[in-house]
Formats: sequence, structure tokens, C-alpha cells
Amino acid sequence: MLKKVSPVDLTDSFEKVPVKIYPDLTTGSIAVAREIADLIREKQKRKLTCVLGLATGSTPKTLYAELVRIHKEEKLSFKNVVTFNLDEYYPIDNDALQSYNRFMRSHLFDHIDINPKNINIPNGEIKKEDIKSHCIQYEKRIADAGGIDLQILGIGNNGHIGFNEPGSSVHSKTRLITLDNSTRIANAYEFANISQVPRLAITMGIGTIMKSKKIILMAWGPGKAPVIKKSIEEDHTEQVPASLLQIHDDVKFVVDEAAAAELTRYKSPWLTGDCEWTPKMMKKAVVNMALKLKKPVLSLTNSDYNEYGLSDLLVEKGDAYQINLQVYYMLRDSITG
Ligand code: GLP
Repeated sequence: MLKKVSPVDLTDSFEKVPVKIYPDLTTGSIAVAREIADLIREKQKRKLTCVLGLATGSTPKTLYAELVRIHKEEKLSFKNVVTFNLDEYYPIDNDALQSYNRFMRSHLFDHIDINPKNINIPNGEIKKEDIKSHCIQYEKRIADAGGIDLQILGIGNNGHIGFNEPGSSVHSKTRLITLDNSTRIANAYEFANISQVPRLAITMGIGTIMKSKKIILMAWGPGKAPVIKKSIEEDHTEQVPASLLQIHDDVKFVVDEAAAAELTRYKSPWLTGDCEWTPKMMKKAVVNMALKLKKPVLSLTNSDYNEYGLSDLLVEKGDAYQINLQVYYMLRDSITG
């Protein structure tokens, strides 16, 4: 479902989507697993099926382990759950080590009580001439199931979601797609060598994902920090598919601190208007400014502070000369050896 955007969207945050930051991937994954378990139980009470959109890759592994734990230790049943996976390499045997079919069985489906008939994953084994109808059927099955209640996503380093590479249309549906070279390189570790990575994949479209009632995108680790910043803070564009989620009305990014590190609230918190000027923060802000302006710290002027968004600091500490000196001494005292 798409969000209604008012002509002037004044927000006090740099972030264009809700973001929840956890100290690490384990706490983040446990929180998402809890949300899924609550949704399944709530649907069970109302005797409804719960339709989940699922992802593969390293990102959701801990989430699936936690769901398996909840199933075993807290008796969560998956009998009312229907699943649709985002994507699959093409061509690939369902039993191949790198197949997403196999991934889902070994990380989740083999350990819970889901009805195998309720599992839907694009099929990497079908003949090329059957792909089109397979994709149409996939879309129809999602619609017949009542649409996806909650879609889980990871994110590729180039911003892809599912296998929707940069340039994918916001209206795209389930289809065959050519993988970006960067994606093949990123995923090569799963294969014997890069030449073994399939060049094609079947993926739900961005339009398919956008129809989900609720979406959670998860990202862990410093490698994802640049693309997380782009997706959350920059204008949405088909060149960064995950940024298109900004126009969904019920989406949340769940990230760990390392993946959040490039967000303005971490990197330049003084720009968010909500910053406590500890000496450490002052040093970080002033050094950043000096590097950006390519000026020595001792040459920074009052206007530099104002123009760089540090007028608050200027007001609090007096004038540029005083702040420059204080930061200069901090830097000098940190030199060792
Ligand atoms: C793969 C999958 C995506 C996944 C992404 C990130 O290419 N098709 O669904 O989100 O790459 O992978 P990882 O979670 O291993 O970082």
C-alpha cells in the first residue's frame, strides 16, 4: 500500500522511513521474530491464515533460528502460515547447495510444522519457456492467498531487494531478471567460483513487494551502512530499489548499530538539532568540518561554524577561536609514540 505524501513534507528527521536500531543482529532478529510470532498467534485466534513473505541470504538466518526456537520451546504452530519467498536463482536445482529452496528447508521449513502445500518459492528448475506462466501463477497465488501480511526483506549492497536490481520499476511484478555483476560477485562466496553463479534469477517485483500490508527490511553489519543511509535518507529512486520502500505506508527498517553508522543521527548528530555537546562530540564535529572544508582546525571561523550547521555549538561555547583551541589541544593530547 502506498503512502499519501503531502506537497510539503516537513519532518524533523533526516530519515524518510521508520528505523529501529538494535545493538546487534541477535537482538534485532529476536525482536522481528517476536513480531512474526505475535502476528501468527493473533491470526490463529481469529482462525485466519497468516501470509508471510520471506527472504534468504545471511541476514535472516538468526531470525529463522529464533522462529524455530519459539516453535520448539514456546509451541508456536505454523499450521496457519502460508509463505512466499522473494526469489531464486535461475537455473538451479532445488537441491543444489546454493538454492534458496534448499536454504529455506534447512534454515526453517524442516524444523517447523508448516504444511508443505503452504510453501511457495520460485522454481529454478522449470524450462525457460514456462517461466512467464510460472511468474504469472506466482502473482496469482499471492493474490489468492489474500496478499502478503508481512514481508521480510534483506538488502543487497547496491540496494537490491529480492533480486530487483537497480533500475527495476516500482510497478515490476514477479519475473526473470539478469543479475548485476556486483550481485554475482557479492554472492560468489556461496559458489565454487564466480563463473558458477547463475546469471539470472526469478524474483518477486518491487510492485509485488509494495502490495504487502507490512514490510520489515533488516540489515546488519558495517558493509550495509552506506546503502542503508542512501535508502533511508536520500530521495527515493529506482536506482536504489530499497529506497522505494519510502513510499509504502507501513514499512520499518530494523538495523544494528553498525549498519546505522552512516545515518546522520549517528554520524553528524548536531545536524539533527538534538545533540549534547560533550568534548568527544565537539571534537568529532569540528574535525569533520575541518576535513570537509580542507582547513586546519585553528583557521576555522565563526562563519564556518554557522555555515556547517554548528551554530548551536558556537552559541554554547562562545566563539570559534575558543572552540578551535579546545579541539586542537584534544588532538594534540591524543598524539602518542
Ligand atoms: C541476495 C538475495 C536478497 C538478499 C541480499 C542480501 O542476493 N537475493 O534477497 O537480501 O542478497 O544478502 P545477505 O543477507 O547475504 O547480505
